[in-house]
Amino acid sequence: MSTSTVTLDDKTVEFPVKEGTLGPSVIDISKLYAQTGAFTYDPGFTSTASCESKITFIDGDQGILLYRGYPIEQLAEHGDFLETCYLLLYGELPTANQKEDFVYRVTRHTMVHDQMTRFFNGFRRDAHPMAIMVASVGALSAFYHDSTDISDETQRMIAQIRMIAKMPTLAAMAYKYSIGQPFVYPDNSLDYTSNFLKMCFAVPCEEYKVNPVLSRALDRIFILHADHEQNASTSTVRLAGSSGANPFACIAAGIACLWGPAHGGANEAALKMLAEIGTPENVGKYVARAKDKNDPFRLMGFGHRVYKNYDPRARIMQRTTHEVLNELGIKDDPLLDVALELEQIALKDEYFIEKKLYPNIDFYSGITLKAMGFPTSMFTVLFALARTVGWIAQWMEMIEDPSQKIGRPRQLYVGPTRRDYMPIGQRN
Ligand code: CMC
Repeated sequence: MSTSTVTLDDKTVEFPVKEGTLGPSVIDISKLYAQTGAFTYDPGFTSTASCESKITFIDGDQGILLYRGYPIEQLAEHGDFLETCYLLLYGELPTANQKEDFVYRVTRHTMVHDQMTRFFNGFRRDAHPMAIMVASVGALSAFYHDSTDISDETQRMIAQIRMIAKMPTLAAMAYKYSIGQPFVYPDNSLDYTSNFLKMCFAVPCEEYKVNPVLSRALDRIFILHADHEQNASTSTVRLAGSSGANPFACIAAGIACLWGPAHGGANEAALKMLAEIGTPENVGKYVARAKDKNDPFRLMGFGHRVYKNYDPRARIMQRTTHEVLNELGIKDDPLLDVALELEQIALKDEYFIEKKLYPNIDFYSGITLKAMGFPTSMFTVLFALARTVGWIAQWMEMIEDPSQKIGRPRQLYVGPTRRDYMPIGQRN
């Protein structure tokens, strides 16, 4: 085993270097503080591996994404979302029998407790659906007490199935509530994604027929978003779970983190930006703003902490966008025109080349989801729906890891040194 040496003042200490199956090795500094009295400093965790994981691998320089070893391109092309869920949760692609059993179990849990509707009715109609998701997923722990004991393997298993099954129902309810339409109950004769489309777009007074092209496209979008190793929301779920919190509460914490525009909120922000740019002629002006150090404007849907190459999900997403627009007969979408122009200009621009800023998945997903009929406020909700399985798989891996401890980062304190309390009259 190789080692790494740290010298601090006159003390030299050796640390083991651990090798993974792919990707960079890590220096195991878990004994650093005990042996040197110093911490490491790494804001944003740009050089820190927080755990060992067997679930997802990303090579950001090569633009590679693997779920349990399988390339995302193959899963998106040949697999479906529930099969991908099985793979992420249990480590292997299911056999036909295993898949049938898994689909059956998920399908049997699609309904939510009827009292949840009262919970929904308490929200303002103009509430952001992500606000409703944070609250309603957290509230699941108030409804399903029989699956909150994390030390019980059966309860953990039921909680994971419940969340994967109920997330589409809650997401569709959040949407229906915002537009003042009645909730549509799940239809268990449909596949996972078709059922979700129906719960979103059917109304009781008309027959609803699921468009298989749109259903397949959305299913693929779910596959692309299913996991992404230790990103901000997944790390949030792991950190929340490390204290022993119940899985519904942990996933609610992940949803809260995902909401931010630097993370899952980027697809909403990207579409708003494309609409603001308006026409391809304006693209140059906005690219110049993105490059201006004194202007906080950033190109939404560009750049990634890990990918310093084309995001492999963005390529698949771009193809899916065209499929959806063709199916819907949308020949000229002004937003797509702006997006294509922006992509062309940015990919040739020195600033973006030098900083390795490429389009990420969110650049195209907004256009696709809008064409399908989803309002921008629902985009991040769909991301949360799909990422739930990744969060759960990562949470399960952490719970089952015998070396797991409560997550507790340290700090470099730069505040005042010790001082004495002054009575209010003596302060100036
Ligand atoms: N437009 C213009 N400049 C950018 C952009 C951008 N979108 N992204 C990064 N830069 C510049 C940034 O100003 C900085 O320049 P300098 O070195 O001169 O200060 C440099 O590139 C590095 O940026 P950073 O913020 O240090 O990089 P990061 O790894 O902390 O940030 C990011 C990654 C995704 C937050 C960032 O690229 C960004 O804000 N992108 C726009 C939001 C977005 O599309 N987010 C979705 C990410 S993919 C979905 C997901 O996984 O959640």
